[in-house]
Amino acid sequence: MAHKDDIETAVKLIKKGELVAMPTETVYGLAADACNEEACQKIYALKQRPSNNPLIVHVHDLEAAKSLAYFSHDALKLSSLWPGPITMVLPQIHPSALAACVTAGLNTIALRIPAHDLAVEFIKKTGVPIAAPSANISGRISPSNKSHVRANFTADELYVLGESSEGCKYGLESTIIDLTTDIPTLLRYGFITPELIAEVLDKQVVIHKSLRQFESGDFSVSSEKIKAPGMSYKHYAPNTKVRLNATHLSADEIGLAFGHNNFGLQGQESGKINKIYKDRIINLSISGDLTEAASNLFEYLHILDDLAIKNDYKFIAVASIPNSGVGLAINDRLGRAAKS
Ligand code: TXA
Ligand code: MG
Repeated sequence: MAHKDDIETAVKLIKKGELVAMPTETVYGLAADACNEEACQKIYALKQRPSNNPLIVHVHDLEAAKSLAYFSHDALKLSSLWPGPITMVLPQIHPSALAACVTAGLNTIALRIPAHDLAVEFIKKTGVPIAAPSANISGRISPSNKSHVRANFTADELYVLGESSEGCKYGLESTIIDLTTDIPTLLRYGFITPELIAEVLDKQVVIHKSLRQFESGDFSVSSEKIKAPGMSYKHYAPNTKVRLNATHLSADEIGLAFGHNNFGLQGQESGKINKIYKDRIINLSISGDLTEAASNLFEYLHILDDLAIKNDYKFIAVASIPNSGVGLAINDRLGRAAKS
C-alpha cells in the first residue's frame, strides 16, 4: 500500500491538472481529472494516442457512475461485478461535466470501478471522475507493474503512484461490454468472459464483428465495423516480432511457452524452474491454467522483449493457447501483438 503522502501528492497533481500513473487490478492507468479538458488532452499527447479514441472513466462508487450515465436494468445487473475488471459502455447523461475529448465526441461513455483499494481511495480523494487509458505509449505493451510504466515515461514526465514491488493482480485490461445496443455486445475480451456476462444478465451476448473477424485471422477490419476505436490500432507490440502457434524454436527465436508445450526442450519440471528456462523460454503457466497465463502475459512479453534485444533474437515464438474462456482474451492480445 502506498504511503499516505504518496496519495496526497497524486491527488494534488490531479487537482492541478497534471497526470498521474494509477495502479489498478488490471493494468496501470494514465490518470487525469476527467472534467478538465486541458488535463485530458495531456493524456492524448503523452501517450501519442489518436484523438478519436475515447478514454475509460473511473469512479469510486456506483452513485458516482450513475451521475455520468443512464443505467438500464442490464447495466444495474452487471454493476454487481463492480468493483472489478469490466467496463460498461452506456448512454452519457447530458449536459455533462466531462471534458469533451474524454468521449471523443461519442454520446456514450465507458465506465468502470476498479477493484484496487489504492486506486479507489485515490479516485475518491480527488473528488472527480478519473479518465485513464493504459499507461503506455499507444500501440505498445500495456504496463502491469511500475517498471513497465517507467519504461514508457520518465520521472520528469509522470508521477507513479504505488509500490514498485506490487504488480497488477490481473495484468490484462478490463473486458468491455457495450450496453447501448439492442443485444449486449462484447467489445474487448478480458478476465470477465462473455459466458459470465450472459449468466449475470440471463440473456444472449454477442461478440462484436471486429473481434470475431480478428479471431479468424482477418485483420482487414474496416473502420465502420469498429466500435471500441482503440481496437482498430496496432496494439500490444513488443519491439521484437511475434510468431504464433509455435511448436519449436529456431536459432533466432526466444519462446513464450504454455503448459506442456516447451518447444521440445527437455528438463522443464513444474515448480523447479526459475522464470526463464535455458535463457530462452518462459512458461505462461506450466499447469496450463489460463487465468495464471493471462495475468503473466504482459509481464512475460516485456521480459522476453528485453532479453531478445539484449541477445539479438529476432522473434518471440509463442505456443498455442486454447481459445476458450480467458484464453479468448490472451489470443486476442497475442494476435494483435503478432500483427504489428
Ligand atoms: O483495464 C482497463 O480497462 C485499463 C485500466 C487503466 O482501467 N484501461 C484501459 O484503457 O485499458 P485503454 O484506453 O487502453 O482502452 C480503452 C478502450 C479503447 O479501446 C477505447 O476505444 C474504448 O475503451 N472506449 C472508450 N470509450 C468508449 C466508448 N464510449 N465506446 C466504445 N469504446 C470505448
Ligand atoms: Mg491500452
